[in-house]
Amino acid sequence: MNPTLNYQSIFVAGHRGMVGSAVCRRLQGIDDLRMITYSRSELDLEDAAAVLDMFQQEQPEAVVFAAARVGGIHANNQYPVEFMTENLNAQLATISAAYKTGVKRFLFLGSTCIYPRMAKQPITEDQLLASPLEPTNEAYALAKICGLKLCQYYRRQHGVLFHSAMPTNLYGPGDNYHPQHSHVLPAMIRRFHEAKEAGLPSVTIWGTGSPRREFLHVDDLADALVHLIQIADPPDWVNVGSGKDLSILELAELIADVVGFEGTIEKDPSKPDGTPRKLTDISLLRQTGWEPKIGLKEGIATTYQDFLSNSVAGTLRAV
Ligand SMILES: NC(=O)c1ccc[n+]([C@@H]2O[C@H](COP(=O)([O-])OP(=O)(O)OC[C@H]3O[C@@H](n4cnc5c(N)ncnc54)[C@H](OP(=O)(O)O)[C@@H]3O)[C@@H](O)[C@H]2O)c1
Repeated sequence: MNPTLNYQSIFVAGHRGMVGSAVCRRLQGIDDLRMITYSRSELDLEDAAAVLDMFQQEQPEAVVFAAARVGGIHANNQYPVEFMTENLNAQLATISAAYKTGVKRFLFLGSTCIYPRMAKQPITEDQLLASPLEPTNEAYALAKICGLKLCQYYRRQHGVLFHSAMPTNLYGPGDNYHPQHSHVLPAMIRRFHEAKEAGLPSVTIWGTGSPRREFLHVDDLADALVHLIQIADPPDWVNVGSGKDLSILELAELIADVVGFEGTIEKDPSKPDGTPRKLTDISLLRQTGWEPKIGLKEGIATTYQDFLSNSVAGTLRAV
């Protein structure tokens, strides 16, 4: 018999994105579940009237909100107006339509990158708004914090189970492999793969290699999200991470090993290192009864296979 969910219908907002598609994979095969999805061309979540209309028609019992305008430092810095307004509009339209139509459960996606710039490490949930934000993504962070807080206020004022998850750096299927705009892990997969193919003797990584970072496979995140929408009294927001970090050099060595790159790894200390450590405290998540399951090496290996098949099929995401 297939597993079941507490709900018979669920709207996954942003189902074509990295997180939304992982949530859909996780929900596939659950008995008696109607999954509701709309692409942006079918439903622009910034269009509040259209969003309310959809909720009235479809009557979802639960929502996972994984739609967002996301981007790297450069895009965030250059387009703060779009990052703030588009995220605020889509969140407000969806959260309020969910409340108006009696949605039983709403899970909003935050991010550990909305914690303050100098958040104490490992980052606990009470660090939110405890000190100034990172200036380069302030507009995005403020918009996301509004979404998270709006869920908390609905819960407090109206007793509805609207709450949030704060994922750490993610990797896995559907990631972005753009040569300039991608995150460190997919960027390294691409660079080590291309170096192996070209027979290059070495790959140079930025900085000293010593900053420490945490990574979570997106399928682990999706599993955690499905767990969170089923527990009776979830935290208003909870970190979702692996709880383990490693240095950028260790990450490079791991990826080189998985990819089969046999050259050397050089460092370029003239390039910036960024913050020395970024790690989330996942004690609260553990207390809710969930543990990460996908080890980093195993996760990178399956991600590399996904990278290879998408490269061959010409469907690699590079935006
Ligand atoms: N990826 C990470 O490492 C990471 C880490 C922590 C937290 N998160 C959080 O997880 C959430 C999802 O991130 P992601 O990496 O999955 O992003 P993504 O791959 O860019 O997916 C976002 C999705 O949202 C859709 N969308 C955006 N605005 C929309 C609108 N107005 N109407 C309809 N659809 C809209 C996009 O549609 P189009 O494709 O049509 O634009 C896209 O499919 C975000 O809140 C992000 O902060 C991600």
